[in-house]
Amino acid sequence: MSEPAARILGTGHYLSPIVRTNADLERMVDTSDAWIVERTGIRERRIAPAEFATSDMATIAALQALESAELSAKDLDMILIATVTPDTPMPATAAFVQQKIGAGTCPALDISAACAGFVFGLSVADQFIRSGAMKHVLVVGAELLSRVVDWSDRTTCVLFGDGAGAAVLGPANGATARGRSRGILSTKLFTDGSLAPALMIPGGGSARPMTREGIDAKLNKIQMKGQDVFKVAVKNLQSSSQAALDQLGMTGADLDWICPHQANIRIIDLAVSRLGVPKEKMLVNIERVGNTSSASIPILLDESVRSGKVRPGDRVLMCALGAGISWGSAVVTV
Ligand code: ACO
Repeated sequence: MSEPAARILGTGHYLSPIVRTNADLERMVDTSDAWIVERTGIRERRIAPAEFATSDMATIAALQALESAELSAKDLDMILIATVTPDTPMPATAAFVQQKIGAGTCPALDISAACAGFVFGLSVADQFIRSGAMKHVLVVGAELLSRVVDWSDRTTCVLFGDGAGAAVLGPANGATARGRSRGILSTKLFTDGSLAPALMIPGGGSARPMTREGIDAKLNKIQMKGQDVFKVAVKNLQSSSQAALDQLGMTGADLDWICPHQANIRIIDLAVSRLGVPKEKMLVNIERVGNTSSASIPILLDESVRSGKVRPGDRVLMCALGAGISWGSAVVTV
């Protein structure tokens, strides 16, 4: 195993205090708490305040991550915001975050890989630090999905929530904890565009600019073939995670934790059991947070680090799949 080039120096997250429970949804669509809990594991999700944009959530998470990394925004060499719910189509949400956190004129760009966005961002940051081009890179997953969910569609509205999670990465510099080299050990990323129609916001881009008719037809809202995504999620999360472990000559037994994208408790359970990893090693917050797309892994990681559950030197597998279909896995010693 080669020495890691980049490591996570600090993490942070933001979740709105506004809670939408399954009971609230029972009053909005034809659903039940029992159905949602049994099929998804979700009991409640957070909804961003009306005055918030995605960059506001990203900013709070980013400032927390900088504080825990003991760095200032001026130390950043690059800002990556993974999001499919940008503040505006142009410019990148990263440009707004750069201004709000008080960073310098470092490059700031968005990554559009939906739920896999944070893992993609981690890998991009790792490459820039590995090459020596950048020293400190901020990676944020931030989503304001409540603005693109069709709240009259029971097949999707029960799943999603808002939030942001962040990590500041810097050179690994041979740092160790409990005899292990801290840093990103391997990342594996994939996209299969033939599956794009399974999960889309079909309108509002250059292919179908938004019209009054398009809005009436809800083309600006999430459309999903849930079962198609479910099947491919279990298979691909397992295969990309296996590939990330194989590259290191490791197995599930070498992991301390799995920090999976919180899409559906049944997807997570199946993927983790196929990797041969016991359930006790699975980090979960889906019951409180729902599916926050690219924000889900960094929120869960930050909560787990702050609670002391995940400790320096622990080996963590992150894995995620979402629209694209894009998916990926990363093995990291935190
Ligand atoms: N409440 C009550 N009944 C419902 C609800 C609901 N909220 N939603 C669907 N149903 C009904 C359906 O209409 C269907 O009824 P029918 O049999 O009369 O036709 C029945 O429940 C079963 O529906 P299924 O779609 O088969 O339910 P399933 O067990 O597959 O669960 C779910 C649906 C939760 C969406 C699941 O397929 C899933 O989690 N898919 C993956 C989602 C995902 O991971 N997305 C990727 C990430 S998102 C991103 O990238 C932004």
